[in-house]
Amino acid sequence: MNGRTRSASKAASTATTANAPSTTTNGKKRRADTHDTGAAAGMQTRHAKRQALDKPTKKPAEPIPFPIVPTVTPLAPGGHVHAPIAYPVTDPSSLDWDVGLGFGLITTAGYVRYTCRSGVWDDGAWVAGSTLPDLHIMATALHYGQACFEGLKAYRHADDKAYVFRPHANHSRMAKSCARALMEAPPLDKFLNAVRTCVARNMAYVPPHDKPGALYVRPFLFGSGPKLGLNESDEYTFIVTCAPVGEYYKAGGKPVKALVCGEHDRAAPKGVGSCKLAGNYAPTLLPAKEAKTQGYPITLYLDPATRTYVDEFATSNFLAATKTKILTPDSNSVLESVTRMSIMQLARDHGFTPETRRIKVSELTEGTADGEPITHIAACGTAVVLTPVYRIDVPETDATGKTTLRRIVAAGWKDMVDADQEPTDAAMDAGESDPLMKLGNELRAIQKGQRPDTHGWLWPESGITGDE
Ligand code: COI
Repeated sequence: MNGRTRSASKAASTATTANAPSTTTNGKKRRADTHDTGAAAGMQTRHAKRQALDKPTKKPAEPIPFPIVPTVTPLAPGGHVHAPIAYPVTDPSSLDWDVGLGFGLITTAGYVRYTCRSGVWDDGAWVAGSTLPDLHIMATALHYGQACFEGLKAYRHADDKAYVFRPHANHSRMAKSCARALMEAPPLDKFLNAVRTCVARNMAYVPPHDKPGALYVRPFLFGSGPKLGLNESDEYTFIVTCAPVGEYYKAGGKPVKALVCGEHDRAAPKGVGSCKLAGNYAPTLLPAKEAKTQGYPITLYLDPATRTYVDEFATSNFLAATKTKILTPDSNSVLESVTRMSIMQLARDHGFTPETRRIKVSELTEGTADGEPITHIAACGTAVVLTPVYRIDVPETDATGKTTLRRIVAAGWKDMVDADQEPTDAAMDAGESDPLMKLGNELRAIQKGQRPDTHGWLWPESGITGDE
């Protein structure tokens, strides 16, 4: 066991012996287990002493070493077996904040981990490094997909402190995902504490105030207990990790073109599209890869029941603008993005009418029922922030089985597309008339502390210093 593994296991074993609240988040009655401390532990000790007087002394069981290091031997003598990768912790001083960080993974110092066993949450642990040393191979997350995640960002302000954008909203969404997949949701105080501690202990990875980027914070929760039959887990692991990031798409904030997925749906009509379950994402990988090879960085899904309404992009929500309105789909198979809620609020602040309603694909070319053309379209979400979409191609198959692409261009980008140009900086300047980009820029400014946070979206009010 190397030093890092040792400290991780020490931290994790501390977590498994900690105390917990008396009720569980899904209302289940708390079951006292062997990891309870405090009064319960005191009673156990008194009970044990009494037993010791009554009975002949028994040799206590040997403590089980934690984690159990599996013995790995090649199947065939001398056979090649991949050695575990010693994932290094990135030295923050090696990061060049001036070049766009993109959305690749930069490993950070460590993560926060809470475990809920038989309905009892522990007090949490800090785990150095980026690996999970003690997962049972029959964990329900691995076989039956009991897993969900969240994404939020922390920003460094001019006061050198970090502020997190709307973590309470992410907690509510995680609770919804957990409820749908019968998982134990972390209580709000543990969720917030994990986010705060993760940011504080990784403060060196929060991009400087005057540089682009943010610290992407990734809370996730999964069934870590083993089950063979299709049942919910008895144990849940809740982790908050993070990575410094820049722009999600290679276009670096410039408008992108989208391909509608004709062959696949993201969600079922009464499925789980509105929950941020891990299983909603893997099925989007193949269509996204196919689209990328055809030059589309982003894929758009239509409603799975009729394929006539817009749902959302694989990575993010859909927004459209007319002269007076900002529209976003109302659908039971789209995720309620925190960025989208915030953009809709800013739209209201600026005198637009925000409309969350079903959006027909035909409206994108024909305009809304009240005769307003759609001028601009964008993708929005924590990772993509607000990425303009200048063109959407829709595959259409005729009676002979031949598929052609129908091109949808939002009016605001028509000249550029008609001239067969790709978005350039000049086009971005022309796009200055794009109300969605303006709202996105305002949101970025609020997040960075460059505009007043009138809605109280940034948390905590006093910021995170890294010294706590
Ligand atoms: C986010 O925006 O935070 C997401 O979870 C999207 C993911 C595809 C990176």
